[in-house]
Amino acid sequence: LARGTAAPDLAGRHVVISAGGTREPLDPVRFLGNRSSGKQGYALARTAAARGARVTLVEANTRLPDPAGVDVVHVGTAVELRAAVLAAAADADAVVMAAAVADFRPAEYAAGKIKKKDGEEPAPVVLVRNPDILAEISAERVRADQVIVGFAAETDDVLANGRAKLLRKGCDLLVVNEVGEHRTFGAEENEAVVLAADGTETPVPHGPKEALADTVWDLALPLFH
Ligand code: CTP
Ligand code: CA
Repeated sequence: LARGTAAPDLAGRHVVISAGGTREPLDPVRFLGNRSSGKQGYALARTAAARGARVTLVEANTRLPDPAGVDVVHVGTAVELRAAVLAAAADADAVVMAAAVADFRPAEYAAGKIKKKDGEEPAPVVLVRNPDILAEISAERVRADQVIVGFAAETDDVLANGRAKLLRKGCDLLVVNEVGEHRTFGAEENEAVVLAADGTETPVPHGPKEALADTVWDLALPLFH
């Protein structure tokens, strides 16, 4: 579908999209974060709204303006993002996990700023696993025909890793893109392959993030029963 001429083929659907990157606090002024810009998730939200969907966008640390006509829920951490996605997913036709969710968070949060001490080396930062939201919503679907889409950024063996990740997560579609220095993070354009649980692979040539977003919706549509 060309932009601006979208047919309302998502009318009557509720879609939930997570976007951005979580930040896991160490103390009131410091966090562990990642380089996700949120632009791909926002493109998914804009295109879904243009195609007539009711859209809930769960946003983590993007600093992007709220898209018009979209319900935006602002979160910070992976645990907050999980709660917001699970709440919105309860009546959703599709859930797209475009957010970069931190795999680990500091085991302890210091309520006061961590201070250095003269003559002492810093204490190591102990990390614990965050919940895997994509795997959880895929395993415990609120409806058999809910469509669940994941994203994977890979630096090596992109397709093999993507195929294994699709199986491990149990989602319907996995958008795989190759990342590295100067690739994808923060860029206006993207290039990817969309892997489907039925084995099909849809290459999406280098182009605007809206084009990839529209391909995701095109592939999700026939999965709604
Ligand atoms: N994801 C999630 N919860 C997490 C981690 C990731 O829901 N705790 C989602 C992401 O939003 C994305 C997909 O899982 O849609 C794949 O993320 P990715 O980091 O590529 O996968 P991981 O399983 O974390 O594997 P890796 O060890 O390669 O980081
Ligand atoms: Ca990860």
